[in-house]
Amino acid sequence: MKKIGVAILGFGTVGCGTYNILTERREQIKIEYGIDITVSAILVRNTHKAVANGAPQELVTDSIEEIVSNPSIDIVAECIGGIEPAKTYLIESLKCGKSIVTANKELFAKHWGELEKYAAETKAGLYFEATCGGGIPVIRTLTQAMQANTLLQIKGIINGTTNYILSRMSDEGASYDDVLRDAQALGFAESDPTADVEGYDASYKLSILSSLAFNRFLPVENIYREGISNIKIEDINIGKKLGYTIKLLAIAKLIDGKIEARVHPVFLKNSHPLASVSGSFNAVFLVGDNVGEIMLYGRGAGSLPTGSAVVSDIVFAARQIEHARYSEIADVIKKSEVISDFTSDYYLRMTVLDVQGVLSQITSIFASNNVSITSMRQDSGAGVVSIVFVTHKSNENNIKKAIAELSSLSEVQAVNALIRVEK
Ligand code: HSE
Repeated sequence: MKKIGVAILGFGTVGCGTYNILTERREQIKIEYGIDITVSAILVRNTHKAVANGAPQELVTDSIEEIVSNPSIDIVAECIGGIEPAKTYLIESLKCGKSIVTANKELFAKHWGELEKYAAETKAGLYFEATCGGGIPVIRTLTQAMQANTLLQIKGIINGTTNYILSRMSDEGASYDDVLRDAQALGFAESDPTADVEGYDASYKLSILSSLAFNRFLPVENIYREGISNIKIEDINIGKKLGYTIKLLAIAKLIDGKIEARVHPVFLKNSHPLASVSGSFNAVFLVGDNVGEIMLYGRGAGSLPTGSAVVSDIVFAARQIEHARYSEIADVIKKSEVISDFTSDYYLRMTVLDVQGVLSQITSIFASNNVSITSMRQDSGAGVVSIVFVTHKSNENNIKKAIAELSSLSEVQAVNALIRVEK
């Protein structure tokens, strides 16, 4: 029977889940694939802590040298996260001809091309199912199941932390700050939540998904990004009355050979399949020219869901005689042509003085910027009114220009919210 040795780098949430699944399923994998996959080493910084957390004493090491120089280790599964030392460890492993499996979206999105180069040199494999959507097999779907299609669109809820926060704000009427604090106490959000709540994590994942979907590398810096930290419960409540659910959406579209890519909060029509994806769940909605719409749904994080994706890659890597290469896609020189401007429907809330003629001034600014209004609602207060506009499809640059002009009107106290509406 073919024997494959695996080293797991890191024994945190994902590393531990990977170890548990691999050892529990060892016999089943032998039966199904005729391969005996064993964990030969677990690399950690603190060996005592890892043993206390359930790693077998005889497997733990704090030396990457021991791993890369061990000829019985064929596959290195990186579950550390962050750029360094993970990047150095993966490059060292690739140089020694070991296939790598990674759950590290930031590292992969930023250094895919470099890893590809090292992998190609030694003909090692490079697998990254766990970088996007946790346990959802979205990478495999894009790389192994879409041969009959030109992908046209990806829309994803690909960050569980923000979906959890927005779902709870929406369900409980609680503020962003209160829900974030609670989510941190419960372990759903990191103590430094920036990468999640400001949309960086979703941008890394969108960079990978879009590059695979459209066969051209999409650098993270070419993705328009806005997070959820400015979302107010007031807008969520008004959105509900308008039939919308708030989500942090990652969107990539192929338009005339160019890519439009953005991560930001959106109001989704309640009838959209993604609107019902709540809590920490993830979902990816794909549109192919022949297959039409597909939606993949599942847990985007966690020990066993992400471990499931890592193990799937390990088994996949173990079965390959010749590894797939994505050098073309990962080539930063041939990166996607990107559309910097885009169109959308918009929700705008502003506070204005309740004086004669103010509405006419506002609508003339919209008109002069080619922004057409779909609906308007007004709530009166003492001397001021809160006005909400929803626009027809408009151009992002035009909306921003209109907002700048509106903000300069003395009667406009504030433009409180701008949320894109996705149909
Ligand atoms: N921080 C990520 C999320 C976890 O909240 O979805 C896995 O990528």
